[in-house]
Amino acid sequence: MNESQVPWIHTPLPGPKAQALLEREKTWVSQNYVKDYQLVADKAEGMVVTDMDGNRFLDFAAGIAVCATGHCHPKVVEAIQSQAERLIHFCNIPFYYPKLVELAERLAPLAPGDSKKRVYFGNSGAEGIESALKLARLRTGRQKIVACFGGFHGRTVGALSLTASKSAQRMGYAPFLPEVHHTHFATCYRCPVGCDPESCEVECLELLEKTLFNTIAPPEEIAAIVVEPIQGEGGYAVPKREFLDRLTEIAREHGILLIADEIQSGFGRTGKMFASEHFGFEPDILVLAKGIASGMPISAVVASDELMQWRSGGHGSTFGGNPVSCAAALATLDLLEGGLVENAARVGDYLKGKLKELAEKHECIGQVRGLGLMIAVDLVKDRKTREPAVELRKKVLRAAFEKGLVLLGCGASCLRVAPPLIITEQDADIGVAILDGVLTDA
Ligand SMILES: Cc1ncc(COP(=O)(O)O)c(C=O)c1O
Repeated sequence: MNESQVPWIHTPLPGPKAQALLEREKTWVSQNYVKDYQLVADKAEGMVVTDMDGNRFLDFAAGIAVCATGHCHPKVVEAIQSQAERLIHFCNIPFYYPKLVELAERLAPLAPGDSKKRVYFGNSGAEGIESALKLARLRTGRQKIVACFGGFHGRTVGALSLTASKSAQRMGYAPFLPEVHHTHFATCYRCPVGCDPESCEVECLELLEKTLFNTIAPPEEIAAIVVEPIQGEGGYAVPKREFLDRLTEIAREHGILLIADEIQSGFGRTGKMFASEHFGFEPDILVLAKGIASGMPISAVVASDELMQWRSGGHGSTFGGNPVSCAAALATLDLLEGGLVENAARVGDYLKGKLKELAEKHECIGQVRGLGLMIAVDLVKDRKTREPAVELRKKVLRAAFEKGLVLLGCGASCLRVAPPLIITEQDADIGVAILDGVLTDA
């Protein structure tokens, strides 16, 4: 390795400057998350993150699937800078400003479905989910909400009431919102009802239709079903198309609204603008955040004119849709529409193919799945039992970091491969070669 290469690791990790910062962090910063390894980012550009000691890492995480256009894309930086010089904040509750309107005009027509849409802007994914829940309850006059096991929708109390991916996220915070019920998702690699995905008839939905509807959640009292078209935190689980088809039929039959949480799967990550498009899924409410503004905080809730009707003063957010984030989102959209969505599809296929080749070599890879650049490498103790290899995942994440590859986990034991959408085939090859070495050593 030499200095011009990426990755380039020239100190023990974390290096001395990072170590010193970690000491201060331990003293002063809320310790609410155990990290898999200690990467202290100083700066980043494109696919490369540089730590405080000058070590350079190849980024297969993009924050957590956020920096869609790569780090500090010059067009995004320029949009942020020029907006910051002009207008940083002017609250959207009592006032107006052009960037928010421009972004709504661009976003609304992109949402799946033919109806004319409107957009509500917030700051974060969880806030978008809260807004969608409020809208669904307001417009249906119903209270109950159904979400899926394995789903992650955020950590504010309303969103957390839906979240059911890891008990650690909920432990200690009860009681949650009443009238929230959970049903199965089509996590086909480990089918929750023991079916063979090749021949199943989405029996996983019987919990909703046969049990919940007939016992504690009559469908006429359900305002909305909230679903990630591809589960994120739950392990990048890609459902059978029939699952979302049947869910749609059920919802339409009973006047239940469908809320698609595309906070992680949206904005080009799966090789289409929204993951819903892969399945012909047309939710009533679409919730977006993460990749939308290349790292600037903003979320968007998109729904039809007919649905997006609040009582005057009935909802709002001081910072929601702030001008600088809107400018970053507009620049992000230009780049996505200018080729990055296609790149995600093309390099995503290439990368998934290479990871599948790794699976032929390493017994510990149970499955490689995903769409576009939303790929999971599911590590197992045994391919027959598919028992998650939790400790191995920890080891692999740490070892990859030491070799200069930034990876995160998702699900019980998956490696989450979610690089920026600017990734090239050459970047993919470098990442896969590192992973190959790490898996061989592990
Ligand atoms: C699918 C999904 N929904 C909601 C959220 C919550 O978003 P935020 O952390 O911005 O509140 C996340 C974040 O990981 C997510 O992946």
